[in-house]
Amino acid sequence: MAHWHNGVDHMSDKRVAVITGSGRGIGKGIAERLARDGYCVVIADLDPHTAQETARELTDKGFAAASVAGDVSRKEDHRTFVQTAVDEFGRLDTYVNNAGIAQIKLLQDETPEDIEKIFSINVYGDLYGIQAATEQFRKQDDGERIRKIINASSIAGHIAFDLLGAYSATKFAVRGLTQAAAKELGRDHITVNAYCPGIVGTDMWDLIDEKMVELKGGKKGQYLKQYSQSITLGRVETPADVADYVSYLASPGADYMTGQSVQIDGGIQFI
Ligand SMILES: NC(=O)c1ccc[n+]([C@@H]2O[C@H](COP(=O)([O-])OP(=O)(O)OC[C@H]3O[C@@H](n4cnc5c(N)ncnc54)[C@H](O)[C@@H]3O)[C@@H](O)[C@H]2O)c1
Repeated sequence: MAHWHNGVDHMSDKRVAVITGSGRGIGKGIAERLARDGYCVVIADLDPHTAQETARELTDKGFAAASVAGDVSRKEDHRTFVQTAVDEFGRLDTYVNNAGIAQIKLLQDETPEDIEKIFSINVYGDLYGIQAATEQFRKQDDGERIRKIINASSIAGHIAFDLLGAYSATKFAVRGLTQAAAKELGRDHITVNAYCPGIVGTDMWDLIDEKMVELKGGKKGQYLKQYSQSITLGRVETPADVADYVSYLASPGADYMTGQSVQIDGGIQFI
């Protein structure tokens, strides 16, 4: 478990966030934004190199960041992520369950191994993150200060996509976990919300596009372009677009909001 930081002083008013899957993509965008908001950030990712690189980019800019490698499908790794926040920055305020994977397959072709893998990362991973963050929040003497858990769902967690059936099911499940956890943890002054991005131009969408070409034919980029035509605002979403909303969820301005899974998709779905 590699980690690295810039030795920031422990100050009482600072806020500390763990963001899983933040070595690249949306998670990286969230980490950059929360750092700019004044958070000390822990970059947690399966890939130690991208995690370290992202943390280094942030510390080079003068922000407080540490990195830790681990797998969100392993319960004990979430404890390590939380412990890194505590060891490096003294506390935990916000836990972002961002890491997730996609699979592009007809439901008929899903194997037990496929299902086990995607649910382990996208669903069990979020549950273990909720558990580890809650364990730490309950140890802290924070009075009525609101602590936050923020989960990555998707527009596919509101309306399922074909060829993304298992993925859609995991993202529906994230909404369920978000609601139940919000109900169970409200009295602990912990809020639980989810963000539901639309079509974000990350490696995940490169993979979706590539696999759709394999399954349905056509050429590279065709499916990203085709799906993007449904975006009212007329352009593909960026990690920064998602991060703007997560920044709000992670701020005191959202302290009275819990159990919600809001679509931030440039206007694709209107439910
Ligand atoms: N890209 C989109 O259009 C889109 C849309 C809606 C929702 N989302 C969700 O947003 C989240 C981030 O997506 P992204 O597009 O940035 O994906 P991405 O594939 O670009 O990045 C995912 C990151 O998570 C890490 N990761 C993967 N498995 C992990 C594991 N088991 N443990 C720890 N880290 C792991 C990867 O190493 C990578 O750094 C995911 O939950 C995804 O389902 C993405």
